Amino acid sequence: MTEPAEQTRPVAVVVLAAGAGTRMKSKTMKVLHPVCGRSMIGHVLTAALHVEPAHLVAVVGSSREQVGEHILEQVPNALLAVQETQEGTGHAVRVALDALREAAGTTDGVVVVMSGDTPLMQGETLSGLVEEHLSTDRAVTVLTAEVADPFGYGRVLRDDSGAVTAIVEEKDASPEQAAVQEINSGIFAFDGAFLADALPRITNDNAKGEYYLTDVVAIARSEGHAVGAHRIDDVMQTEGANDRVQLAGLARELNARTLRRWMVEGVTISDPSSTWIDADVVLAPDVTVLPGVQLLGATVVAEDAVIGPDCTLKDVEVGAGAQVVRTHGELAVIGAGATVGPFSYLRPGTELGAGGKIGGFVETKNAQIGDGAKVPHLSYVGDAEIGEGTNIGAGTIFANYDGVEKHRTTIGRQVRSASNNTFVAPVEVGDGATTGAGTVVRRDVAPGALAVSGGPQREIEGWTLRKRPGTPMAEAAEAALRRRASSHTDGPRFVGDDDEGAQSE
Ligand code: UD1
Ligand code: CA
Repeated sequence: MTEPAEQTRPVAVVVLAAGAGTRMKSKTMKVLHPVCGRSMIGHVLTAALHVEPAHLVAVVGSSREQVGEHILEQVPNALLAVQETQEGTGHAVRVALDALREAAGTTDGVVVVMSGDTPLMQGETLSGLVEEHLSTDRAVTVLTAEVADPFGYGRVLRDDSGAVTAIVEEKDASPEQAAVQEINSGIFAFDGAFLADALPRITNDNAKGEYYLTDVVAIARSEGHAVGAHRIDDVMQTEGANDRVQLAGLARELNARTLRRWMVEGVTISDPSSTWIDADVVLAPDVTVLPGVQLLGATVVAEDAVIGPDCTLKDVEVGAGAQVVRTHGELAVIGAGATVGPFSYLRPGTELGAGGKIGGFVETKNAQIGDGAKVPHLSYVGDAEIGEGTNIGAGTIFANYDGVEKHRTTIGRQVRSASNNTFVAPVEVGDGATTGAGTVVRRDVAPGALAVSGGPQREIEGWTLRKRPGTPMAEAAEAALRRRASSHTDGPRFVGDDDEGAQSE
C-alpha cells in the first residue's frame, strides 16, 4: 500500500462525544454502550483512523474520565478536548480546534468532524468524503443521505442550481424546509483555516439556544466559499443511537452486515437470524456455524471447524476441524480436530490440545489438556495440567481449592484415571499411571503405578432385614434371598483388585 499523499491526509478527525445521552437512561455514557463487541465510539474511532489523520481529537464532557480513558485505550495519542458545558456542536468543535492548535500549532488542512454514536460508519465512506472535498476545493463538504423520515435531523437546503446553501435544524425549520428529505449526517470535511475563522462568528440565536456547527455552511456561502454535499445511499451508516431501542436496531443491522461479509468469504452460516458475530471475530473459509451461536470478542476459528448448535464463545481460539457443540467458552484455546460438548463450560485458561476431548457436563478452568487427552464426562478440571493421551474417568473432580488457596494438579502422559476420582491438589500423577474407581488421590503417584484409596469393601449380611424390618426394602431383599437360596446358583460375590481400575470411555 502506498502512503496517502500528505495533502490528502486530514490534519484532524474530530469526534464529538460530550453529550450525556440521557435517553439511554444509563449510568454508562451513551458512546460507551457496546454494539457487536465494541463500544459505539470504538467503531467510530476505527473508521476515523482509516483516513490516517495527523491528529485525532475527541471532545469529551462531564464524565470525561469514563469516556476519555476508553478512547486512550484504543488511540493512545488521541487529544482529549474537554467541553465543560454542552453549548452545542459548534461550541464543541471550537473546543476541539483549540486543543488541535495547542498540540499542532495550526488548524490548517482538512478537518473531519463526526459524532461518536454512529457505529455503522465505515472508514471507506470517510475516505470518499475527504477525496471529494479535496478534489472540489470547497470550504465545507457535508455527508448527506436521503431518508424516508427526516424527523429530528438537520435538513440540507439547496438553491435552484442544486448547490447547498444552508442546513436548518428540525426545530428551526419552516414546514416547507421540514419537508426536505435530504438530511445532515453530522459528518463533515472542512477547510480547517476557514472553520477556525468561521466558528467564533456563529451565534446561539436559535430554537435550542445552542451554537450550531451547521450554521457554518451559511457563513461559507455568504462569504463566497464553495460548499457541497457528499451524498451516500447507505443511510444506516449515518444513523446514531439515542436510546436502547435504536441501539438494538443498529446492533442487528451491523450483525447482519458482519454475517454477510463472512458468508461471502466462504463461511457457512446455517441460520443467520439466530447467529451473532462480533465485529472483531475472525473466521476461516469452510467454517460452519450452526444455529444459536454467538462468537464474541476476539474469537478466531480456523478452517473446517464446526461450531454449534447453541454455543457462546468469547475470546476463544478454535483450531482447524474442531467440533464444538452446545458450549459456553471464554478465553480458551481448542486444538485442531478436538471435540467439545455438548454442555461443556470452558472457563479462562482452558487449553485443549489437538484431537483432545472435553465432553458433556465438564467444567474446565486454567487447565492445559494435552494432545489427544480426554475428559469425556461429568468432571471439574481446575488449575491442572493433563498430559497427552491421558483419559480422565467420568465424574472426576480436581479439588484445587483448600478453602484458602488454589493449588495445581499435574497428571502425566497416557494416564488412565478411573471414574469418580478426586485429585486433591497439589498432587502429581506420573506418566502411564492408573487410578482405581472412586480413588481420592491425596499423594503423588509414581509413573506406571496403580493408586487405590479406601479399604477393601466390607459386607454385613442381612443388615436390611435386621435394621429395616417390615419396609419395602426389607421385603425386596427377603424375596431375592429366598430366590437365591432355592436356585443355589450364585454364591456371594467379592470385589477384587481387578475391578479397581474400572474405566469409563
Ligand atoms: C446534529 C446536527 C443535525 C444532524 C444530526 C445528525 C447540529 C446543530 N445539528 O443534531 O443537523 O442532522 O446531528 O445526527 O449540529 N455534542 C457535543 N457537545 C455539544 C453538543 C453535542 O459534544 O455541546 C455531540 C453529541 O455528543 C453528539 C453530537 O455532538 O455526539 C451531535 O449532537 P446532538 O445533540 O446529538 O445533535 P443533533 O440534535 O442530533
Ligand atoms: Ca443526535
